[in-house]
Amino acid sequence: MESTIKRIGIITSGGDAPGTNACIRVIARRCFDAGIEPWGIFDSWDGLISGNVRKLERPDVAGIVQHAGTVLRSARSRLFLEPGDPQKAKDALAKFSLDGLVVIGGNGSQAASALLADSGFPCVGVPKTIDNDLVGTEMSVGFQTAVQEATSALDSLRATAESHSRVMVVEVMGRHAGWIAVEAAIAGGADIALIPEHEFSLDDVFERLRVRHDVHGRKYSIVIIAEGAMDRAKKLDARRGTRDVMGRPRLGGVGTMLAHEIERKLGWDSRCTTLGYLQRCAAPIAPDRLLATKLSDKAVDYLLAGQGGVMAGLIAGGGIEAVPLKDVVGKLKTVTDDYFRLAEIFG
Ligand code: F6P
Repeated sequence: MESTIKRIGIITSGGDAPGTNACIRVIARRCFDAGIEPWGIFDSWDGLISGNVRKLERPDVAGIVQHAGTVLRSARSRLFLEPGDPQKAKDALAKFSLDGLVVIGGNGSQAASALLADSGFPCVGVPKTIDNDLVGTEMSVGFQTAVQEATSALDSLRATAESHSRVMVVEVMGRHAGWIAVEAAIAGGADIALIPEHEFSLDDVFERLRVRHDVHGRKYSIVIIAEGAMDRAKKLDARRGTRDVMGRPRLGGVGTMLAHEIERKLGWDSRCTTLGYLQRCAAPIAPDRLLATKLSDKAVDYLLAGQGGVMAGLIAGGGIEAVPLKDVVGKLKTVTDDYFRLAEIFG
């Protein structure tokens, strides 16, 4: 049966993540091949409302697969927080005669897709967040590059840690889930990994460092900490600062606080390196480009088959399946205890 869809909108929303351009490229190319018009929505949901929307041509998506960022630009938006907002978005989509939408984004973006789909607009999701905390997919676009960046940083910082006999603290992203910290800890051989899923005791961290130093004779250590990690006594609280447009605390700083505490308590030299946006702006490694391509290709299939309200999710074994957005939204994929233990064992 021929699809009734003639114009597909593509939107990128939330924090940028390596591999996003690969998603845009394949969606647009699938459209060109099927004689469908791909329309780019620039600057995310706010751009949709203000009419920052145009038809994409082949040159728009040529030579972008290897680049970080998103050629459609991205933003965090307050659209969809009010009851009338899905209708506002539908009206804006109707203005450009768009009859389907692919939403490339993380938890907030897929919550918006779900609302739009519930209001009757054909909408499918492609999971994209370096935090990898989206339910319904084994991995999200951007995550693998972020892990690679963090692992490379650990490899490099080891030289300084060793040369100066320091405790090097490395802060990585991960607001609610410590996937980057755990995978980089395993791959990069960090001695301690601290993640949001497991509140830690500062005394325990000091003791582990002391044992490594005094008993095992290691004169340096590497600690990786996710930005959302917190000690049980809430002494290292990085949530006290400013808030973002969504009202969420801006994170960043917990690693520096930890390094200060280590110096204060143990008297050893300790420094923090916060990787921050360097994890998001790196050129996508090949596995991220491939994942982006496979997920986005399927997302177009779902849309053309009239299967809205789903997200393309990577399942164990490497397959991709349509996951209902209602099973994705409002949940968080956190690090399992077993996986965390791996990081602890190899630490
Ligand atoms: O995309 C998720 C994330 O990487 C979080 O780990 C981090 O807290 C957040 O982005 C920061 O994003 P921004 O400062 O761009 O809003």
